[in-house]
Amino acid sequence: MQRPATIRWFRRTPVALAVVAAALLFSATTAQAEDPAADFKRTCSSCHTIGGGRVTGPDLKNVTARKDRAWLVKFIVDPGAVLDSGDPYAMKLLEEARNQRMPNVAGMSKARAEALLSLIEEESKKEKSRFMGIQLSDRPFTDADVVRGEGLFRGEVGLKNGGAACIGCHTLGGVGGLGGGRLGPDLTKVFERYENRRKLGTWLSAPATETMNPTFRDHPMESDEILPLVAYFKHANTNHEEDTASRGLIFALLGLAGAAGAVLLLDRLWRRRFRAVRKPLVRSAALPSSNKRTAT
Ligand code: HEC
Ligand code: HEC
Repeated sequence: MQRPATIRWFRRTPVALAVVAAALLFSATTAQAEDPAADFKRTCSSCHTIGGGRVTGPDLKNVTARKDRAWLVKFIVDPGAVLDSGDPYAMKLLEEARNQRMPNVAGMSKARAEALLSLIEEESKKEKSRFMGIQLSDRPFTDADVVRGEGLFRGEVGLKNGGAACIGCHTLGGVGGLGGGRLGPDLTKVFERYENRRKLGTWLSAPATETMNPTFRDHPMESDEILPLVAYFKHANTNHEEDTASRGLIFALLGLAGAAGAVLLLDRLWRRRFRAVRKPLVRSAALPSSNKRTAT
């Protein structure tokens, strides 16, 4: 006797499911088989250099010589768990990073971590790795830097590689009152958060976060744009109280001027309206006889 169709279907389903699962797994692994160098640049270089010194995270030059590979793989795959476990080496790293925790990287696998470590090992052998990070000048910031930085922030000065102006998504102290975007955080205190020009500059050269990464991946900021932006953020960080105070005064004055203007305008409109109402009245008062004449 033939089995009902549903049972036949059920018997075949596990096979079908297994095929689908295998296909998914295959596509997932191939999707992750990104070139490790591109992966490092996109995912790690906002916080790490190879031979360029510490930024948010430690310099990874020769990291495989100072710690065993199994530990490093475990840490890269799930830094949160290793940090939470109180592992002494991780605690030391955390302290050196001033308590900035390495975030878990979405989709990180053992194989991907291994590939990244091999890349780091290879790059460590070079005198100058391509992941030394941006080299920002150490010269003191000038007023001209701050002005240019503000121009870049507001989009009055275009970014060379076509990146979007910061003001589209960010506010900064009083600049928000002039229509800054709300998608990103307020950047008034961002210099303080990143502590210094190197950390903030390196972060901006390869931001790894959800929105910033796709926004600037194909339109990277250049070092002669990052320097003035950092100068502007540093200036805003220390001077924003003064700035907001003077902006507040300007707004109050603008408000007063605006109110006076509105009164004048209303007055004008009212008079015109009055005339507009009065004119036909006057006309009709003057015309009744002629109107009557044409009507009859
Ligand atoms: C947002 C910043 C950030 C990103 C992005 C980041 N890390 Fe880290 N990383 C850190 C910090 C900070 C530490 C030090 C430990 C801590 O404080 O959590 C660290 C530690 C490490 C260590 C141990 C270093 C040592 O000296 O033993 C390795 C290895 C490492 N990261 C690799 C990576 C790799 C590979 C990527 C990219 C897939 C990456 N990190 C992405 C911040 C980051
Ligand atoms: C398309 C919207 C968008 C644009 C344009 C944009 N940002 Fe962002 N930015 C964000 C968002 C959203 C975040 C929060 C992290 C994330 O999701 O990427 C952020 C985060 C940041 C941070 C980290 C803030 C922190 O407290 O950690 C900095 C610094 C930053 N942006 C600087 C800039 C600069 C400089 C520009 C202009 C050159 C810019 N952004 C342009 C959306 C944007």
